[in-house]
Amino acid sequence: MTVSQSAPSLSTTIAGISLETCIYNASGPLCATEEELDVIGKSAAGAILSKSATLEYREGNPQPRYYETSWGSINSMGLPNEGFEYYANYAPKAAAHGKPYIISVSGMGYDDNTKMIEALADNENVAAIELNLSCPNIPGKPQAGYDFEQSRTLLEKVFEVVRLPLGVKLPPYFDIPHFEMMADVLNSFPISFATCINSIGNGLVIDTEKECVVIRPKQGFGGIGGDFAKPTALANVRKFYTLLKDDVDIIGVGGIKNGMDAFEHILCGAGALQIGTQFMREGADCFARIANELQDIMRQKGYSSIDEFKGKLKDMGE
Ligand code: DHB
Repeated sequence: MTVSQSAPSLSTTIAGISLETCIYNASGPLCATEEELDVIGKSAAGAILSKSATLEYREGNPQPRYYETSWGSINSMGLPNEGFEYYANYAPKAAAHGKPYIISVSGMGYDDNTKMIEALADNENVAAIELNLSCPNIPGKPQAGYDFEQSRTLLEKVFEVVRLPLGVKLPPYFDIPHFEMMADVLNSFPISFATCINSIGNGLVIDTEKECVVIRPKQGFGGIGGDFAKPTALANVRKFYTLLKDDVDIIGVGGIKNGMDAFEHILCGAGALQIGTQFMREGADCFARIANELQDIMRQKGYSSIDEFKGKLKDMGE
């Protein structure tokens, strides 16, 4: 006779903050306005993460700037957002949803970043800051995350002013020495978490009938998300899980559209998961669905908490 078991727990701790469930939204889709943030707040997401904020309001790049394919998405949004104050002012409303509120910060230079981070110092309704080192969509602006010295300098300045837990959103890396160089930078600072990965920058999707690119900005170049991002995301989660100091949480994002994708990210070392392309496609119901699917897998495998398999990916041996 089978004994009924309680549901496997998806609770987790990121940056010392307790999340009832480890699945929430990626910064990017559907998190730029109060209405959108409220939808996440009312959903089964474990936290509310804002669109990357700049110091001032930005219109973003010309439309169309997002396109969905059968295997994922391409975007070149150009950081459309309401400006930093809007997201700081939303904090009490986020708190009313009873889940942690994380603000993504993506300043256009050192000073913008430190101004925003300093202004958040005493905001008791903000649980943490995700500093974006990896927006690939601003014409003429390189990503900080691909310039290790620039990243180090930025983090030096940021850690002079930050009071809240702070983590970084990283671009994908593809070369082992680059993982090590970035890990070396990050291990010099008391970062709380690393979110891996941002979209795979500057891909190209083509409409063959029209013989044309599918998004307007940057001659059609844009960040790739969805299914094709998953192997790169898993590799980045895995590498940074093994290279960063033990007290740094890894947040996995890239190609998670079902419970098995979530399971794979956790096996690689993710302590929490963000959903981007699939959230855009499915809306906020994706959080409960993926959570239920992950719990089914855990039940079948006999796991009662994510810590029992987090980071436990096995090698094949010699
Ligand atoms: C945008 C895209 C990103 O990948 C990011 O990290 C921040 C902003 C954008 O184009 O809006």
